Amino acid sequence: MIRVGVLGATGYTAYELIKILLRHPEVEITALTSRQEGRPPISSVHPSLTGRLNLPLEDLGSDEIAQRCDCVFSCLPHAASAAVVKSLADAGRKVVDFSADYRLHDAGVYAAWYGETHVDPERLGRVPYGLPELFADRIVGAQVVANPGCYPTSAILALAPLLRAGLIRTDGIILDSKSGVSGAGRTPKLTTLYPECNESFAAYNVGKHRHTPEIDQVLGWAASAPVEVIFTPHLVPMDRGILTTAYAVPVGSASEAQLAAALRDFYAGKPFVHVVDALPGTKQVSGTNFCHLAVRCVRGRVLVISCIDNLIKGASGAAVQNFNWMYGFPETTALLF
Ligand SMILES: NC(=O)c1ccc[n+]([C@@H]2O[C@H](COP(=O)([O-])OP(=O)(O)OC[C@H]3O[C@@H](n4cnc5c(N)ncnc54)[C@H](OP(=O)(O)O)[C@@H]3O)[C@@H](O)[C@H]2O)c1
Repeated sequence: MIRVGVLGATGYTAYELIKILLRHPEVEITALTSRQEGRPPISSVHPSLTGRLNLPLEDLGSDEIAQRCDCVFSCLPHAASAAVVKSLADAGRKVVDFSADYRLHDAGVYAAWYGETHVDPERLGRVPYGLPELFADRIVGAQVVANPGCYPTSAILALAPLLRAGLIRTDGIILDSKSGVSGAGRTPKLTTLYPECNESFAAYNVGKHRHTPEIDQVLGWAASAPVEVIFTPHLVPMDRGILTTAYAVPVGSASEAQLAAALRDFYAGKPFVHVVDALPGTKQVSGTNFCHLAVRCVRGRVLVISCIDNLIKGASGAAVQNFNWMYGFPETTALLF
């Protein structure tokens, strides 16, 4: 059994992660952390875990976490995460980091977009990006894996195979993305209060969302050329789910059927991505680790519509998929639900 710790266990992604880990035959959860005082039981913050996991939330230092765990899932915000991930990795523990701290390869780009000086710049670029559909060979046996952002997962799965095959141009890519409110986490913010977002639908962080350089970096890798996307996120008054419509300029005259076939070929044998014929909606992947993609050609543009559950394929399901690759367990272990 792998002894597993969950950091930031009171949050939304941690809640979904714990439910998946409880189904995993090779996992024993041995530590749950929170800054809350008094060692409250996990069921006091996630009542549906009552009778399923009898562990307290503890404010543990990295030495204690390293003693109790072989592998740690860090569900902390950026910056807070890197500080503890560095100590745990230095102590030889495996880590799946949910935050953005190890996704970007360049400390300067990280500082520019996140406004923080990275505390562990030597590891940047050496930590694999945790999208097994693209990087499984690097994730196998890795010590630290950078779990992708939720929006980037939806966008990269839609476009990376087409860029790699040279079927779309590297310039002129537009990503129009919509996310449910859980994408902003459980920590209260004005914009996610019920009266602010209910019955409303708005774009935010236009031109400056922090997932932009992450998408550029991975799509640039797929294309073997620089990519700069225009990424516009929107907040939708629903609990969960992301729908991204990606617009790209085709190279050549591939038909809709040929573009869909190119995606299907790329994802053949990859169990969590399906190319579907009918236009997908978030509900059909809600609560699952699946991504559904559909292709359309409209007025000289290629459109790929991509749906995921932000908390599962966009976070906790992907993290367990990475864990399975890191340890050599079947990729789908605990994830076919
Ligand atoms: N939500 C999503 O859809 C999603 C998708 C992909 C990736 N992510 C990433 O996954 C991570 C967790 O996201 P989430 O949505 O689960 O967030 P969340 O619901 O806000 O939970 C994060 C938890 O971390 C703890 N925390 C907050 N600030 C902290 C700090 N400065 N130092 C130490 N602990 C702190 C809090 O627990 P206590 O107050 O109990 O200590 C909080 O419950 C973030 O890095 C996020 O960017 C989220």
